[in-house]
Amino acid sequence: MSAALLRTPWRRRRGLAASLAGLVLLSACTLALAAPDTRPGKAAIASAHPLATEAGLEILAQGGNAFDAAIAVGAVLSVVEPQSSGIGGGGFFLLHRAADGQDLFLDARETAPAGTRTELWIGADGKLDRDKSVNGPLSAGIPGEPAAYAWLAEHQGKLPLATSLAPAIRVAREGFPAYGRLVSAIGQRRPVLERWPASAGLYLIDGQVPAEGQRVRFPDLAATLERIAKDGDAGFYRGAFAASMVQAVRAAGGTWTERDLADYRVKTRTPLTLDYRGWRIVTAPPPSSGGIALSEMLNILSGYDLSRLDRVRRTHLTIEAMRRAYRDRAEYLGDPDYVTMPVAELTSPLYAAGLRASIHPEKATPSALLPGYAPPVEPTHTTHYSILDADGNLAAVTKTVNLTLGSGFVVPGSGFVLNNEMDDFALRPGEPNAFGLIGGDANAPKPGRRPLSSMTPSFVIGADRIGVIGTPGGSRIITMVLEGILAFVDGDAPAKVAANPRFHHQYLPDVVSAEPNAFSAEERRALEAMGHTVNAGERTWGLMNVVSWDRRSGAVEAGSDPRGSAGSGSAAVR
Ligand code: DON
Repeated sequence: MSAALLRTPWRRRRGLAASLAGLVLLSACTLALAAPDTRPGKAAIASAHPLATEAGLEILAQGGNAFDAAIAVGAVLSVVEPQSSGIGGGGFFLLHRAADGQDLFLDARETAPAGTRTELWIGADGKLDRDKSVNGPLSAGIPGEPAAYAWLAEHQGKLPLATSLAPAIRVAREGFPAYGRLVSAIGQRRPVLERWPASAGLYLIDGQVPAEGQRVRFPDLAATLERIAKDGDAGFYRGAFAASMVQAVRAAGGTWTERDLADYRVKTRTPLTLDYRGWRIVTAPPPSSGGIALSEMLNILSGYDLSRLDRVRRTHLTIEAMRRAYRDRAEYLGDPDYVTMPVAELTSPLYAAGLRASIHPEKATPSALLPGYAPPVEPTHTTHYSILDADGNLAAVTKTVNLTLGSGFVVPGSGFVLNNEMDDFALRPGEPNAFGLIGGDANAPKPGRRPLSSMTPSFVIGADRIGVIGTPGGSRIITMVLEGILAFVDGDAPAKVAANPRFHHQYLPDVVSAEPNAFSAEERRALEAMGHTVNAGERTWGLMNVVSWDRRSGAVEAGSDPRGSAGSGSAAVR
């Protein structure tokens, strides 16, 4: 980590009008950072699969940096974890460059094709046709992941794209043993996969769901990745392969055109930054709703010294912060290139102070008392990985095909499933999407727009400790990252941050969902006495991946979610 990382925010925030106090703080920071360990000297990677973590380490060993490793880890995940993300999907890449202290957000979110019009998803009864919004090519946005890899290799990496993609090509060709999460995802989506021969042919073996341990191979995906390795994003977005995707999508009822693919561009955006009790959080800007919601929640919570409160009071205040932030998410947020959002207001500490003042210290505020919209949620799939390299470059990447195995639709010969990210739009105002999320104009489907996301890859920067954090989990992503940040700030190591029990509130339904072990019976009773409806004993949700570097002690750590139901991930330091 370079000194510049910590200097940058001070400069940015205080500008030329830096106060004397600010200057004193600035030099104190600079002095502290001039300590000998200005680079970690070791790398850490935490991802959802050991082959992906290994691929990242392999690329670092070949002289790559965190950004080359981000390509390698991501591409291997697109092979071994197709239920969660893939080159038929998109994602967000939060990057920190140690050399000059710059933070950068690469938006590789899918876009709506030009043929998008709301009638496409409305059934004869005038209601949202849920099948069309989540299954098959009408549910697929134009993928962003291939363009992200080409951009990363060209602008941030040290190695050729072909080198960083090589592990994924190898794994796709040689195969790997099917594992629990993959097997159950294929089993769950089998009826949809069976609608299209290319989809069934890709994920079923002799018409059957693969058994755990059985070797699965994706030679077509290897060939697709090889084309990208050779021709960059042109190998995916233009030429014969693009034409074949368009032909298959249209034949199956979609609207994609070759122009949609040729026009796709990743966008570099300025990450959203905020201060929380002396820590600097660097996180996802729109079209993620994550950073703004996190900012609202942390700004509200910064008015309390949570460490001095008992667990019930602390939980109550956190739930109330969640409720308020998710209300605003539903009301205001969408694609920043198309929608004007009151970002400065929503992230302002003054606005948070107003929200804080509306929190009763001992009583839940019924969501119905807050003006506005609605959401709930059921997380299915997506993946997050965190990387720190030996020079202190950081990458936090959350990527997705949306629901389990995306749209279930495979273009013949491509080797990958298309996303169903169109369902993240408010396809019909007032009707919930697969996560139960409701929205309005700000997130309406329009040609070229990116659907609003909850993915929240983030950095947590303290005077000594630096964390890279993120997770899948649908709309729970944001509250998971919030709880992860609070735990990290309290001193928890990555493994504990990833393992801690979780709770979630998202405004509507007006219910706190909690993992079975999140609250003791007594804590639950106390929260209920305050007026919270606690839905405890529910399933667990994961799969968070965190890495950290303690600049003072030199410790580099990695932690991956141990949750059984989600299947544990793979964390390594080398
Ligand atoms: O971008 C989003 O918010 C969703 N497409 C993410 C989906 C997800 O996290 C599914 N989860 N586990």
